[in-house]
Amino acid sequence: MPFRLMGFLMSEMKKYSFAIPPKTLKLFRQIGYLAESRNEKAYAVGGFVRDLFLKKTSPDIDITIEGDGLAFAQALAAKTGSKVEAFTRFGTSIVIISGFGKLDIATARTETYAQPGALPDVEKSGINQDLFRRDFTINAMALDLSPKSFLLLLDPYQGLNDLKKGRVKALHPLSFVDDPTRVFRAVRFEQRFNKRIEAETQKWLIDSIGQKSMNTVSGERLRNEFLLIFKEEHPERAIARLGKLGVLPMVHPALGLSASKRRLLPEITKALGFFHDHKIHLDSPGMVWFQAMLLTPTPVQAEALAKRLMLSRDEQKIVVQHAKAYPALLKEIASKKTTPSRIYRLLSPLHPEVQCFLLAAAPKAVRKKMTDYFLKMKNLKPWLRGRDLKEFGIPPGFRYSYILLEALNGQLDGRFKSRKEVIQWVKQAFAPAG
Ligand code: CTP
Repeated sequence: MPFRLMGFLMSEMKKYSFAIPPKTLKLFRQIGYLAESRNEKAYAVGGFVRDLFLKKTSPDIDITIEGDGLAFAQALAAKTGSKVEAFTRFGTSIVIISGFGKLDIATARTETYAQPGALPDVEKSGINQDLFRRDFTINAMALDLSPKSFLLLLDPYQGLNDLKKGRVKALHPLSFVDDPTRVFRAVRFEQRFNKRIEAETQKWLIDSIGQKSMNTVSGERLRNEFLLIFKEEHPERAIARLGKLGVLPMVHPALGLSASKRRLLPEITKALGFFHDHKIHLDSPGMVWFQAMLLTPTPVQAEALAKRLMLSRDEQKIVVQHAKAYPALLKEIASKKTTPSRIYRLLSPLHPEVQCFLLAAAPKAVRKKMTDYFLKMKNLKPWLRGRDLKEFGIPPGFRYSYILLEALNGQLDGRFKSRKEVIQWVKQAFAPAG
């Protein structure tokens, strides 16, 4: 290695070794020595290395072994008194190290794709080939953990330069055809790190979706990519970008980003904030974002979409409820004639995720009505209950639901001012004489 390059690397290494938490550094040394004793080489790779240069600490650490990753994982587990938790078909194992966390350990490998979009066939390789099979240059860097070249950066595809220049760049023209989920990953990294998908890479990306590459990806993998986007700090940016790139209809014709929904994206952030601040529970907040990408599907399309993306029953219901409620229901809520009890009847059967989306989509004047409704509902205790009716000697039967509903409507619309007034009304109108 030329002396000047070595000098540069040494100073770079010093810079980033400070950014690695001492616990991780200690474990890295241990891994390096263990690999050396087994005549193997170990590297920290992928997101961890990228994040180090972005001055972020990544909770996930991927280790690649030039050698036998599975046997190495077992040896490391034995040495550290931990357990190998899982294996995958790619020879990756997960080791949970007590007091530290999770390590993914894989064998350095090349990948070949029998068919585009299918899971790859893998073969053992050296580290450079392993880095070449990866998605983007910024994710194709490795830190050598060998004791003799500890923390030396391997960057055969100039990932560091791309990171500095703000470029998300694929390694070869077929990257998106081999693995179309990289389309989502490109957008995710671009928006998360405020970078730009490099021009040629964007061309490869668009070419691949034009070739209907999304059709080759399983519903499970697509669903997972959407969930990862919804978990980002700014899903609205990634969704807008997916919309612009024309990715969504290629996943399913019921998906797309209409101009009106694009305008709604910032409002979704606010509506989610309102639900969060007022502790209104959402089972899957991501489904609020998902609704922004729906092109008002018919029930049949909603079912097809649910099948394609392997949506759960509840998620499918959200899609169907959304299609029925948006935007018609907002118009009804906006009407001056709509009473609070009517709003209750319109909104209460809907999943909270649909309610939250409607809040985001509501025009300003309607929003106040809706936030009032949500706040009222949070603490709503009906003044009249079934057990009261029993106590008053009213014989149980279908009349109960009518009386309870009328009492609730009166309470919501302000016709009753207190529990006392409701009880008075029930006793007068329904209780048996005497
Ligand atoms: N990778 C890839 N192609 C994929 C998925 C992953 O090449 N479709 C490689 C990349 O090198 C990536 C590494 O595997 O860095 C680990 O993948 P993952 O944990 O999914 O991504 P991270 O880069 O760690 O990103 P994140 O910060 O979102 O976890």
